[in-house]
Amino acid sequence: MKQSRWFSYGFVAFVLVLSAAFAVVAADVKDEFNIKAGLWATPTKAAVPFTHKKHAEDYKIACADCHHVFKDGKNVWKEGDPVQKCEECHTNAEVQGEAKLPPEEKKLNLKLAFHNNCQGCHKKLKKDKPDTTAPITCTGCHPAEKKE
Ligand code: HEC
Ligand code: HEC
Ligand code: HEC
Ligand code: HEC
Repeated sequence: MKQSRWFSYGFVAFVLVLSAAFAVVAADVKDEFNIKAGLWATPTKAAVPFTHKKHAEDYKIACADCHHVFKDGKNVWKEGDPVQKCEECHTNAEVQGEAKLPPEEKKLNLKLAFHNNCQGCHKKLKKDKPDTTAPITCTGCHPAEKKE
């Protein structure tokens, strides 16, 4: 009797902790938003609309395909860990000639981080599914009119 009661308290506490953990993740990120990094004081392009929830849920892309923390060359980030903005680590702001940066700076270039992640995946998709809606052209991601 006593034991099963303690078990129930334990179970309730467990469920509360779990739901709190999920609520934090859900509250921390909008379903859809425009990507507009603050690192570029004068961006040349319009902000990029992004369907965060659809990517994670409908397209079934793992969080860790986009979010990472590297330790000894391995991505140790896992769901539930805090998420930093890309520009907190990708601090190289070069948007011209970025492909010719020395390797260490190139890895931390913000424009390449976005393009290699977003466009990189979409280009691979296009090979298997030519009629995919995932954009690979500039205007497919950057709305045509120049910003704000
Ligand atoms: C297809 C790529 C992609 C997938 C999949 C993805 N995210 Fe994101 N997420 C992003 C991008 C891009 C941002 C905006 C980052 C920025 O503004 O620098 C973001 C932002 C966030 C933020 C807000 C960070 C902040 O401080 O503004 C959280 C929290 C987050 N994601 C959690 C998750 C979780 C949890 C999952 C899996 C269920 C997930 N994401 C799946 C790309 C993705
Ligand atoms: C906690 C720091 C950190 C955050 C936050 C972070 N990155 Fe990275 N990222 C790195 C590091 C460090 C590397 C280089 C890893 C290595 O040495 O290979 C990297 C590598 C990459 C690469 C592969 C290298 C390349 O240019 O092709 C891509 C793509 C990338 N990040 C995209 C993103 C995107 C998109 C976001 C935001 C959704 C993001 N990163 C957030 C630290 C971070
Ligand atoms: C790992 C793969 C992957 C990554 C990374 C990724 N996407 Fe996608 N994206 C998809 C898939 C899958 C679809 C749906 C394609 C289909 O249904 O034909 C899609 C569709 C889209 C669409 C059109 C449909 C919609 O939901 O709006 C846009 C716009 C888009 N992605 C923008 C982005 C941006 C911006 C980023 C980077 C922040 C990004 N994607 C990163 C896989 C990816
Ligand atoms: C799959 C989506 C995608 C495609 C395709 C794409 N970009 Fe981007 N690009 C992004 C995202 C996301 C950012 C980050 C936007 C921000 O934070 O303002 C970005 C940032 C940039 C930036 C740096 C920020 C600025 O406004 O100056 C430039 C320049 C740029 N892109 C040019 C291009 C050009 C040119 C093309 C075509 C050759 C292209 N992009 C194709 C997603 C894409």
